[in-house]
Amino acid sequence: MEFCWVSMILLVSYCYLSSSSSSSLVQSGLAVDSPQYTLVRSESDFEIRLYGESSWVTALVRGNSFRNSTKSGFHRLYQYIHGANVNSIRFTMTAPVLTSIITPQTNVSIYLVRTYIASESPPQPNPELNLQIDKWRSHCVAVRNFPGFARDDNVDKEVEALLSSLNKHLTGTTTIIQDKSSYTIAQYNASRHLTGRLNQVWINVTVPGCPAY
Ligand SMILES: *[C@@H]1O[C@H](CO)[C@@H](O)[C@H](O)[C@H]1NC(C)=O
Ligand SMILES: *[C@@H]1O[C@H](CO)[C@@H](O)[C@H](O)[C@H]1NC(C)=O
Ligand SMILES: *[C@@H]1O[C@H](CO)[C@@H](O)[C@H](O)[C@H]1NC(C)=O
Ligand SMILES: *[C@@H]1O[C@H](CO)[C@@H](O)[C@H](O)[C@H]1NC(C)=O
Repeated sequence: MEFCWVSMILLVSYCYLSSSSSSSLVQSGLAVDSPQYTLVRSESDFEIRLYGESSWVTALVRGNSFRNSTKSGFHRLYQYIHGANVNSIRFTMTAPVLTSIITPQTNVSIYLVRTYIASESPPQPNPELNLQIDKWRSHCVAVRNFPGFARDDNVDKEVEALLSSLNKHLTGTTTIIQDKSSYTIAQYNASRHLTGRLNQVWINVTVPGCPAY
């Protein structure tokens, strides 16, 4: 079954807007929950954000395509959000959808596809979905924006560009890039939006002003 995965982000927002408790972001006139952050540092081509504690529901996918793995992971998350959890709670869709790529030892990569849950104690997923709830502690991420669609053939280039900006701007400060081999792609828009799209590369970092790792 072909799932039109990103377009659901906005569709679902229409349906459940009324149950949204807080809204931090207005997207095409719709309120979408997003994890809260404060700005620690801002440069022309990246910024460093301090995110607070947050809860995420995560699908682990083994594969060799960023795009295909994100789609299949999102399909499972979508069901959770639509009530496939022990309390049959339906959640408001949030943004962004994250895909963390764990650099492969072999030709198969591990993709962790995640969506933020604006609840302090998210209900357990139905077991057949094979999802897990992750609590993130407060930490800093370096963020680089890029437009268009995030695809297998452009995400690596954006990651390299962020690493090179970090090396250029932050030499001489006590910057720690947590793990150069794992990074996250954040996608904010429905696939039906062909222009005005926002994606980001996220890499965990520690700079002055961030919690110790
Ligand atoms: C991604 O999925 C499409 C459609 O199922 C398939 O044609 C394509 O080969 C897949 N790409 C990779 C790299 O696996
Ligand atoms: C990975 O490589 C092995 C051996 O070369 C091959 O049998 C397998 O199909 C490959 N897996 C993928 C997902 O490409
Ligand atoms: C970034 O740091 C958070 C908080 O420690 C952690 O949960 C997450 O897995 C890290 N992300 C990556 C891609 O390593
Ligand atoms: C894409 O998402 C970003 C962040 O939420 C928003 O600012 C932008 O307006 C969205 N673009 C479209 C075409 O909806």
